[in-house]
Amino acid sequence: MTPDHTFDAVATAVAAHQHLPGALMPILHAVQDALGHIPADAVPSIAKALNLSTAEVHGVVTYYHHFRSAPAGRQVVQICRAESCQSMGGEQLWAHACVRLGLHGDHPGTTPDGAVTLEPVYCLGLCASSPAMVVDAKLHARMNIQKFDRLVAQAGSAA
Ligand code: FES
Repeated sequence: MTPDHTFDAVATAVAAHQHLPGALMPILHAVQDALGHIPADAVPSIAKALNLSTAEVHGVVTYYHHFRSAPAGRQVVQICRAESCQSMGGEQLWAHACVRLGLHGDHPGTTPDGAVTLEPVYCLGLCASSPAMVVDAKLHARMNIQKFDRLVAQAGSAA
């Protein structure tokens, strides 16, 4: 990704949303949709366009789990860590995923080989079928460790 890509994505997002009340969130969503993450060098430009401090924009990017500060891996795995899923084994699933992928549970991120990004999410609307997770935007319900291992292995062999 070149600085031109970042500049173009920010300029497009700002032009489309700057006039809205609370423009920061739609701009951040648009930049992430365009680039897959919000590069550090996009933050000052967004801040300047909205007359905010760089620290304010950086704070929002880092506060919301949805926003990525670095590119995602080739596969994105999101495991629900909200209450219903927690009560149905979601935390064991999360712990297993971290061990299996060699990632730390507090700051999972992306495996060193760039294969998988693991992210927490907080309710996928599948509470009745907990625990739930998403693999590359596809929902999976009633998860368990064996199903997780199968899904990750399948995705790895398809890559
Ligand atoms: S709490 Fe996990 S899907 Fe709702």
